[in-house]
Amino acid sequence: MRRTVLTLIAVLIAGTGALAHQGVTNPAVMARMHGMTLIAGHLETLGRMTKGQQPFDAAAARAAAAGIAEHAAAVPALFQAPETDAKSEALPVIWERYDDFTRLSAELETLSAGLAQTITDPADLGPAMSALAAGCRACHRDYRQ
Ligand code: HEC
Repeated sequence: MRRTVLTLIAVLIAGTGALAHQGVTNPAVMARMHGMTLIAGHLETLGRMTKGQQPFDAAAARAAAAGIAEHAAAVPALFQAPETDAKSEALPVIWERYDDFTRLSAELETLSAGLAQTITDPADLGPAMSALAAGCRACHRDYRQ
């Protein structure tokens, strides 16, 4: 179970390196990709703590969760216009089912804002990571290539 979650996280945060946005010419697409990269960076912080690669620090874990909430809150505005780019992985169905898309970003926001209040010890990290990863997947499954 633990291994599965960590593998999923590795997949979710893949491509967050400096080269991820190379060749993107539309600044609106760049901005929404950047927002996702910041979300992934916070998840990575939580992942490192979960794996013991970084010491557990409740304040830092809560701050990472709060960071995810902040960027999830920005998703509706960042994706509102149906902007395209050859490098974009966003599927056009986003703008056919925009209410559903923004419902999923709101769910991630609520979940992560809650975790930003409740993470207190290392045992909280595993369930938090599973829940967050499910939140990412719920949207990527339908709306990202
Ligand atoms: C409401 C939908 C939604 C949610 C929730 C969501 N994403 Fe995304 N994400 C997208 C879409 C759409 C794209 C593709 C954007 C594009 O290429 O234009 C994307 C792209 C990404 C990318 C690639 C960014 C790049 O540089 O191209 C990463 C990394 C990412 N998401 C991580 C996450 C993580 C981690 C979570 C959960 C903590 C998450 N996302 C939650 C919709 C979502």
